[in-house]
Amino acid sequence: MAILKIARMGHPVLLRRAAPVKDPHDPEIRRLIMDMAETMLDAGGLGLAAPQVHVPLRLFVFRDGDEVAALINPEIELLGPAESLGWEGCLSIPGLRGSVPRAARVGFRGLDVQGEEVSGEAEGMLARVMQHENDHLDGVLYPMRMTDFSLFGFNEELARAAARESHQ
Ligand code: NI
Repeated sequence: MAILKIARMGHPVLLRRAAPVKDPHDPEIRRLIMDMAETMLDAGGLGLAAPQVHVPLRLFVFRDGDEVAALINPEIELLGPAESLGWEGCLSIPGLRGSVPRAARVGFRGLDVQGEEVSGEAEGMLARVMQHENDHLDGVLYPMRMTDFSLFGFNEELARAAARESHQ
């Protein structure tokens, strides 16, 4: 396994629409998923999409509890309006976080790392991570979804502000 280099905001690969994976059983795809999982865990992320490691294909990995799961050629359906605000960061936008409106629940389908079809519903943080990662496959970064830029800042400053607030 290998730790891959993560593309940062400003790199054009992050703004492109990614192409479907043609052969999900290709051992190269499996290896890519393993490397992406290792890269995500090493960087302390909750999810990582292939374009973030300079591979413009439709797949992402994410943390599902203690496990790492993958979705190849995912389809994410919003089950309700995208109006639930929650903080997000992105390994391609290090040091920053912002509050992003998302659907509280999603339906998902796609292929897992074995190339088997999977589908289901997710809510809460998992639903948020799936929407964030799926956006990467369409060239969308979380700031492009934000509606209130007063809720956007550097992690350190936001933590300091929160600490000040709790001391008042
Ligand atoms: Ni991201």
